[in-house]
Amino acid sequence: MNAPVNLPGRFDSLPRFASALKAIESLKPAEPLYLVHPDKFSAAARQFLDGFPGDVLYAVKANPHPIALTNLWNAGIRHFDSASLGEIEAVKTLFPEAICHFMAPVRLPGQAKAAFEQHGVTDFVVDSDAELDKLLAEVGNPKKIRVFVRLVAQLGGALLEMSSKYGCRPEEAAKLMKRVQAAGAAPCLTFHVGSQCLSPFSYAQAIEIAQRAITLSGVNIAALDIGGGFPAAYSGQEPPPYHWYFDMIKEALTTLGRTDLNVMCEPGRALCAPGISLVTQVVMRRGDRLYLNDGIYGSFDEQRFISFDEDYPPSGITLDAKGKAKPLTGEKRPFRAYGPTCDSADVLPRPVMLPNGIANGDFVLFDAMGAYTVSSRSPFNGYYPDSWAIIG
Ligand SMILES: Cc1ncc(COP(=O)(O)O)c(C=O)c1O
Repeated sequence: MNAPVNLPGRFDSLPRFASALKAIESLKPAEPLYLVHPDKFSAAARQFLDGFPGDVLYAVKANPHPIALTNLWNAGIRHFDSASLGEIEAVKTLFPEAICHFMAPVRLPGQAKAAFEQHGVTDFVVDSDAELDKLLAEVGNPKKIRVFVRLVAQLGGALLEMSSKYGCRPEEAAKLMKRVQAAGAAPCLTFHVGSQCLSPFSYAQAIEIAQRAITLSGVNIAALDIGGGFPAAYSGQEPPPYHWYFDMIKEALTTLGRTDLNVMCEPGRALCAPGISLVTQVVMRRGDRLYLNDGIYGSFDEQRFISFDEDYPPSGITLDAKGKAKPLTGEKRPFRAYGPTCDSADVLPRPVMLPNGIANGDFVLFDAMGAYTVSSRSPFNGYYPDSWAIIG
């Protein structure tokens, strides 16, 4: 592997601490604070690079921040599933030799052309005739590209489905695959089983759907991209280990007699969630309500869309009389956690379990906050979490 890349620009000078407690003790952060754990980024990447039987593309949308990209690059990730020209540019600016794949089935006009001509991107996705027409018109030389037809994989094993907006049925896919082949491009298939997919079996089912499209089309595909969806281990949840997913995928390919197939995956959440935790502060406690300095319009935006069953089990941390940071202990109880904006909707949808003694000025530490948090925070109401420190 190449030598580690230094964190670009202002990230060189981020404060570094041995632990979250030390960071809280030293910084007493009144603003939400992202704690970056390079060792966790590295461990997540290793599991995929060592265990998945093909290329591992990081889904940039999950966290396009240079600090996430750099940590994953340093951990050995070289392929990037980018969904827009902006994401491709963000990756290529940091790592000119990165291999970007343009895996959004509907692109803004001109973006495929720019990706192909300026950034050497040769993988694209379609799920309709119109988008295939547009792609072929923009990329003058179809022989140089691979076109992934996106299938619907609505299988119910995930907390956030990814098949109602994009994807087509095997019958429609078969027609598109034939068109791709006739145009001289390399036909391929892809699907997304849904995000935070807790059922490894969903991948086997989706691979069978892909096989159906292959049989119907009579087209020999050049690659199968099995998408993202691998779950992050959020505290309070225990998803199946990744090797169950990898074994299931390998078994499905063996059953279909397709162990020769060039496979790829596009994990987002699984690669970046564990690498960042978030320190928030209790601005005010009122009975069983906690008013925190971060909320739905900041790092918790995704909570509006994803239906976790479990309560949040973050850690409560207090500073003692000598200013030492200590975990709060004692019986836990559910709190309703509000964000800092004036909007009544700015409330976490799930109760937050914390020790009963938590008080104004205490801190609440949320683990596994690297995915769909930094990427979707907004400056609504004048709040924008953007303080950073490194742990380790
Ligand atoms: C095409 C595509 N690939 C990969 C991902 C990443 O999914 P996940 O974070 O569930 O791994 C997404 C998420 O939206 C996606 O749309």
